[in-house]
Amino acid sequence: MKKAEINPFDSESANRNEAFREMRAESPIHETEGGQRFVVSQKAVEDGLKSVDHFVGSFGDVGQLAEEDTLMAAIPEPRHGKVRKLFNSALAYNHASQIEPFARSYSAARLDDTLARAARDGEVEIMETFARRIPSAVIAEVLGIPNDRIDDFARWSDEVLEIQGQEDRENAPIASLHAEFARYLDEQIQIRMDSADPPNDMITRLLNAEVDGERLSRRAVLTQTLFLIIAGNETTRNLIGNVIHRLAEDPSRYERIRKDRALVPVLIEESLRLDAPVQLLARTCTEDIEIDGVLIKKGDRVLHSIASANRDENVYPDADQFRLDRPKPRDHVGFGAGPHICPGAFLARMETQVAVETLLDRVDKIELASGYVWDPNPVFWALGPRTLRVTLNPS
Ligand code: HEM
Repeated sequence: MKKAEINPFDSESANRNEAFREMRAESPIHETEGGQRFVVSQKAVEDGLKSVDHFVGSFGDVGQLAEEDTLMAAIPEPRHGKVRKLFNSALAYNHASQIEPFARSYSAARLDDTLARAARDGEVEIMETFARRIPSAVIAEVLGIPNDRIDDFARWSDEVLEIQGQEDRENAPIASLHAEFARYLDEQIQIRMDSADPPNDMITRLLNAEVDGERLSRRAVLTQTLFLIIAGNETTRNLIGNVIHRLAEDPSRYERIRKDRALVPVLIEESLRLDAPVQLLARTCTEDIEIDGVLIKKGDRVLHSIASANRDENVYPDADQFRLDRPKPRDHVGFGAGPHICPGAFLARMETQVAVETLLDRVDKIELASGYVWDPNPVFWALGPRTLRVTLNPS
């Protein structure tokens, strides 16, 4: 096993993609300065993520928390499978088409505001006025949070993520990180528990979902709801921001998509592949396993690089090129793989499609504002713009 030449926790380091390419050419699995295994080939990343009997998900220590405080991504099998079934049945009802009208009207209202500011100031910070707002509003709608709390909800989501990122907090129960947010959600849970006729939203369905005659406890519903908010907010916001950045950096790309809207889904998938909002997935090995000829031992920490897997030249011709003509555009690991694969992918795709179509409907041209330089989101596992200044020509 070779030493990795880059810091896997720094998604902005220079020459990163060249380093990944060299690493993939040498071996599918490397070792970091910190002694973790660092998985870089697409095959090994997929194999690792699918090997749920040998790995458990975690950036922090494994098994420190009671199960009702453990995030779904970190619950070991076979228990994870059961909790995931409960979760899927609660989320599936909200098929994208049912939430889509809300996403469209909310995005249109945000674009009104965005265009007004752009007209006034000559440019606009579109993450703040548009991109970052859509996912929190959509998740609030899915959960059944009243519309007048959307702004609080978005702010709390940001704050809880910030707190969770602090080093000493990685092993703390998520419900203890932000008292105001947890109290608010717990009240929402209580309202539904007390009601004879609760609204048919995700919180109610999580409370009522049964697998093998078993339901989630109130505390577990709170934990998984908070997790869903973080898992769905930060990621989708980065995806929408990355897609807008790809459009604004190359006006001919925007023009081409304006003429052929069938390309919007391909644009989104190519962004997920090359600018994966989740760059890294961590696991701890629970039983020795060989992956792609490399032995991984019980107790080893393993980092799966989605960023590198999605650029694997053995899988993608012209792997570093952003292309709108890939025959199988969804063939990437941007949403993970195996039993933990993202259950919110359909929502993220729908929201991003709606955001792009809202722009296409009302904007002739979008460009990076003069002097704008890439301003990265500081969350170590994420890739996306923290701020994005653009100019817009309304139609
Ligand atoms: C662009 C947006 C998104 C990206 C890139 C993304 C990516 C991912 C990835 C890579 C995983 C796998 C984690 C692992 O294997 O440890 C995952 C899991 C998860 N995602 Fe997403 N996600 C996105 C949006 C969403 C949305 C909108 C929701 C909520 C509705 C959501 C909820 C979750 C949950 C609950 C899990 C844990 C599943 C499990 O452990 O079984 N995600 N996501």
